[in-house]
Amino acid sequence: MDDTEIKKLLKKAIDVRNNAYTPYSNFKVGALVIDENNNEYVGVNVENGSFGLTNCAERTAIFSGITSGMKKINVLVVVANTTEPVSPCGACRQVMSEFSDEKTIIILGNTNMDYKVMDINEILPYRFKL
Ligand code: THU
Repeated sequence: MDDTEIKKLLKKAIDVRNNAYTPYSNFKVGALVIDENNNEYVGVNVENGSFGLTNCAERTAIFSGITSGMKKINVLVVVANTTEPVSPCGACRQVMSEFSDEKTIIILGNTNMDYKVMDINEILPYRFKL
């Protein structure tokens, strides 16, 4: 995947990030997932006054994909307004792992369009899998 292609995907995740529901943290996150058939799904973080019910952007996008029949993540993009490319939480890494393989491309980005490309073993070494 080249720089132009990655930037196009980052732009989509940055756009959807505006829909994040974050009245408590004001920390907006946007995510985009592409499945094995090139279908795209987006997600944002959705917070709740009962804080523990908050759903992260990555999991929102993945759950949307699974709902529509996705079997495998080909590409996952996540962005936030951070100095460095955003670092996904541990729960999201484990959920990514469930639907990833060694070929899955994980793109961590920020709203300045800086990014890092990783694979599942880099982002979640010695991962738990049944
Ligand atoms: N958040 C995500 O959406 N993804 C992550 O990987 C880390 C955290 C959200 C959850 C919450 O709404 C806000 O960021 C602050 O934790």
